[in-house]
Amino acid sequence: MIAHGGSPRDYFGEFKVPGPVVPLIAVPTTAGTGSEATPVAVVADSERILKVGIASPFLIPHTAICDPELTLTCPAGLTAIAGADALTHAIEALTALARPIDGQTTHEHVFVGKNALSDTYARQAISHITDGLARAVKSGDDMAARESVMLGALLAGMAFGVSGTAAAHALQYPVGAVTHTAHGAGVACLLPYVMHFNRSHAVKSMAEVAVAMGAAAGHDDAANAERAIAAVASLFGAIGIPRDLAALGLSENQQDWCAEQSMGAARLVKNNPRPLDVAAMRTIIGAAFAGRRDLLDADN
Ligand SMILES: [Fe+2]
Repeated sequence: MIAHGGSPRDYFGEFKVPGPVVPLIAVPTTAGTGSEATPVAVVADSERILKVGIASPFLIPHTAICDPELTLTCPAGLTAIAGADALTHAIEALTALARPIDGQTTHEHVFVGKNALSDTYARQAISHITDGLARAVKSGDDMAARESVMLGALLAGMAFGVSGTAAAHALQYPVGAVTHTAHGAGVACLLPYVMHFNRSHAVKSMAEVAVAMGAAAGHDDAANAERAIAAVASLFGAIGIPRDLAALGLSENQQDWCAEQSMGAARLVKNNPRPLDVAAMRTIIGAAFAGRRDLLDADN
């Protein structure tokens, strides 16, 4: 990108990369971001508190070499937060807003919106990550588990590269900035609360999450959506993800600022299945801070 002149700051946001970059060969050494298959790069801006995203179709790698052996040296904590990030990608992709497609879609949105193909990748990603993540965290030399998580992370990247991610990712940018915590820990801590907030607008896709996680029972979508949320919270608890934002290190008086700042990630906010505003973000943060999904019930 720098070959085109200017500073990386010129490229923050969507569609700012002016043309093709040199062919990119991505070799992931964690199983998490899915960057080997997405149009997104996230960079730290030394002049801002927040990390910033660069989203452009020109950033999709030409080749991805995904070798789970390269993750064998990841310690348990890193394995957990990277894998939790990948599961969050897949779930936010499957439950994202489906937007109408027209001739302008690919010019107006880097993330064109979920569709049948992204859903297929997302469901498979959820299944593989659910299968392998806890084992990979517990037994780092379990190659089958490592392989499942790496395949899941790649599939999740292929899903959210189309659909985009949503509220959990939008909220993590400011939460991560003020708590100085890892991206994966933040999005995963937030995800059960975001799912609870969104469930009335994504019942069917959230029931599909339960099916992919092996947590579904019967055919009642609303009940299975609840089971999906419980299964995600249980898996994340088992691998050591903080259960609430207070445990992540957020202070009570930082909640308003985080809610306001989260709306700045417009490319993510617009993908959320339930419309978001500052008040909605503040409601989610309040529940996530208190560790109480039931605080979102009145709102559903
Ligand atoms: Fe992420």
